[in-house]
Amino acid sequence: MTQLIDGNQIAADIIAELTREVAALPAGDRPGVAFVRVGNDPASVSYVAKKQKSAEQIGIKSTLLLFPETITQAELLSELDKLNADPSIHGILVQAPLPKHVSETVVFNHVKPSKDVDGFSSANLGRLCQEDPNAFVACTPAGVVELLKRSGVETDGKHVVVVGRSLIVGKPAALLFLQKGLGGNATVTVAHSRTRDLGAITRQADILVAAIGKPGLITSLMVRDGAVVIDVGINRIADASKKTGFRLVGDVDFEGVAPKCAKITPVPGGVGPMTVAMLMKNTVKAHSLARRKA
Ligand code: GUN
Repeated sequence: MTQLIDGNQIAADIIAELTREVAALPAGDRPGVAFVRVGNDPASVSYVAKKQKSAEQIGIKSTLLLFPETITQAELLSELDKLNADPSIHGILVQAPLPKHVSETVVFNHVKPSKDVDGFSSANLGRLCQEDPNAFVACTPAGVVELLKRSGVETDGKHVVVVGRSLIVGKPAALLFLQKGLGGNATVTVAHSRTRDLGAITRQADILVAAIGKPGLITSLMVRDGAVVIDVGINRIADASKKTGFRLVGDVDFEGVAPKCAKITPVPGGVGPMTVAMLMKNTVKAHSLARRKA
């Protein structure tokens, strides 16, 4: 029988744990997070709203900074300087994607590493490579590993195939699965858009992580019987029957693949809520590390 991995429930458990942790802090000493959104990309509007709501629920102070698409890179960097210097802000998140005239690499590297709760800066990616416990790890791949841990899926010695090589998911996911210890110790293959005979690779996976942003790319013929399948894709598909005009689908053809799997995540309700939960976990960690230093 295929088991559905319930990301909503696991994320709710993490949020409850963090809420208790924040409530136990001395009065007036609250973690603070700043969300930076440039423009009005509908997916970004929705993601940032979810992150803000979750912060509020936990007792994390959140600040939302909105800028127009026309903001220059220099202006955005100087806004980040202010947030980097503000002692009441422990975490900074610049929602991607940014407009074409702004370099995401430059912007992500401008966030002070100790406030980089997205884990996208070269400093934190380097720390992840070094298996530094103080590294901030990108929230979506951290959420994937946490989902597997909390669902009792062993990674030690398993073949994990990650489909996708993005900075936000694929690359840090591969590094996490390679780490020594619980949630790691896997043999990792990273496939991507230029991989030949993708199915021949994905069929070798004990654990298949699809993070390439192509709706329904992974079909049943590409999955081995009894595999664990983690669908990171969140793709908007036009659907006139929905009030919003779209529905969300993953990178996995769920109907075809689910019957073959030991465990699978749905979309929505799988990895998505975990990204938010791990961002909150990183913010509480940033606050705790800052207090230790003070
Ligand atoms: N855009 C899509 N996913 C993410 C994420 O995890 N963090 C940020 N900052 N932007 C994103």
